[in-house]
Amino acid sequence: MADKKIFDVAVVGSGPGGYVAAIKIAQLGKTVALIEKEKLGGTCLNVGCIPTKTLLAGAAVLHQVKRAADFGITTGPIAVQYDKMKARKDQIVAKIRSGLEGLLKSNKITVIRGSAQFESPRDLKVIGLDNVFIHAEKIILATGSVPLDIAAFPCDHERILNSTSMLELTHVPKSLAIVGGGYIGCEFASLFAELGCKVTVLEALPTILAAQGTNIAQFMTKALTNRGIELRTNVKVQAIANQKSHVTVTLASGESLDAELALVAVGRKVYTEGLHLEKAGIPLTDKQWIATNERMETEVSGIYAIGDVTGQWMLAHVASHQGIVAAQNACGHEASMHYEAIPAVVFTSPEIAMVGLSAEQAQQKGYSIAQGMLPFQALGKAQATAETEGFVQVISDKKTGQVLGATAIGHEASNLIAEMALAIQNELTLESILETIHAHPTVAEAWHEAAAIANETPINFPPKRGAS
Ligand code: NAI
Repeated sequence: MADKKIFDVAVVGSGPGGYVAAIKIAQLGKTVALIEKEKLGGTCLNVGCIPTKTLLAGAAVLHQVKRAADFGITTGPIAVQYDKMKARKDQIVAKIRSGLEGLLKSNKITVIRGSAQFESPRDLKVIGLDNVFIHAEKIILATGSVPLDIAAFPCDHERILNSTSMLELTHVPKSLAIVGGGYIGCEFASLFAELGCKVTVLEALPTILAAQGTNIAQFMTKALTNRGIELRTNVKVQAIANQKSHVTVTLASGESLDAELALVAVGRKVYTEGLHLEKAGIPLTDKQWIATNERMETEVSGIYAIGDVTGQWMLAHVASHQGIVAAQNACGHEASMHYEAIPAVVFTSPEIAMVGLSAEQAQQKGYSIAQGMLPFQALGKAQATAETEGFVQVISDKKTGQVLGATAIGHEASNLIAEMALAIQNELTLESILETIHAHPTVAEAWHEAAAIANETPINFPPKRGAS
């Protein structure tokens, strides 16, 4: 352990926050160490975004095959071989990980394998595959988050699973009780319901996806129920017992229900274990997050934090952007983080995507707003592909026409939202969207018409009743 290495910057954690920061630092001409105790790529690549979206892509294929007859196509018997779906997921994750290794190498980033802990605000000790002391003038913490475990029903990873152990399943359970109707609960509910599992979501609040606002929650309640998912709200799970052949879930009301497996999806907590933050003088907030300013710097000068560990936006793309900002500041440039145009996507079926302010938020901020909502029913492309469920909605400032927020629910909502993120980031107006020629026939045309509706000049949609 005598070895001591000196770098301009050390980054702890190689998820979409940490690895992006490391590449940016290398581009800015500084030496950088990227320290990782597990697999490269963090939660997003290994046990989050990529594996879940790979499995969801399989479910989407199944959905299309099931309704092939609607398109005049005859198929034979359909069988889900979930072990093969899982193997495909593992292969894709491994392929992307190996690409990431190559990318880091080509950027001349030193990857150090082990757990980092502070010795001082500028010194780290790494223990693991590599055992080394590191001195760096700047340190970026990108240690992420882990699934929240509830003491009353801890995951045993045998029948009581969390989002990580759920990804190791090699069969589709006959029934699944999901505790928590947030992002993770609803995405897994969509996946396993499509694969033929009887899914029950148990949510303590009066609605699923409560954080996404009433309109979205109401729409999704109907959409998920139509797909055969049982949604039970206002129910607090108190205990889960592994009965060896199944689980028994007990609610606060005393009622109980059985399922083959339970998935606990009640949130994530930031991960700072073993870092010895006190040796660097970094305090945690009362919620156990690491607080930063808009430059992503912690209370300790020269130490930055990005991604889930900062607690507020647990989204991979936010972590990456924060990584770029922190890297620039750590390398002597000036950059700051802005949160007005953060797209967020829930990969349920149908998908939900949002950016900017909701109508309620805009009104609370004192805006007088105009809204334009276009149901996909009204689009030729949506009719052609039989993807007519859902809508896009744009919210603008009545006075200036500036786009303030947008929502899309439906097929490809995750891709559609990019146009509105660009519009909001660049303070564009309804006029800018109306001046932009959108290709026909596409679903992206929906934004053009929604902007026209908000502007009270719809072309392909009837004028508001009573309008001259
Ligand atoms: P969440 O906070 O979105 O939802 C957890 C839900 O569990 C809440 O609605 C809560 O009321 C409920 N709950 C808590 N205790 C309960 C109990 N005892 N009984 C019944 N219900 C209970 O957390 P989730 O879904 O675990 O996701 C964590 C984070 O991961 C999200 O905030 C999101 O940022 C991130 N994520 C992002 C994704 C994306 O970008 N597509 C996908 C998955 C996760």
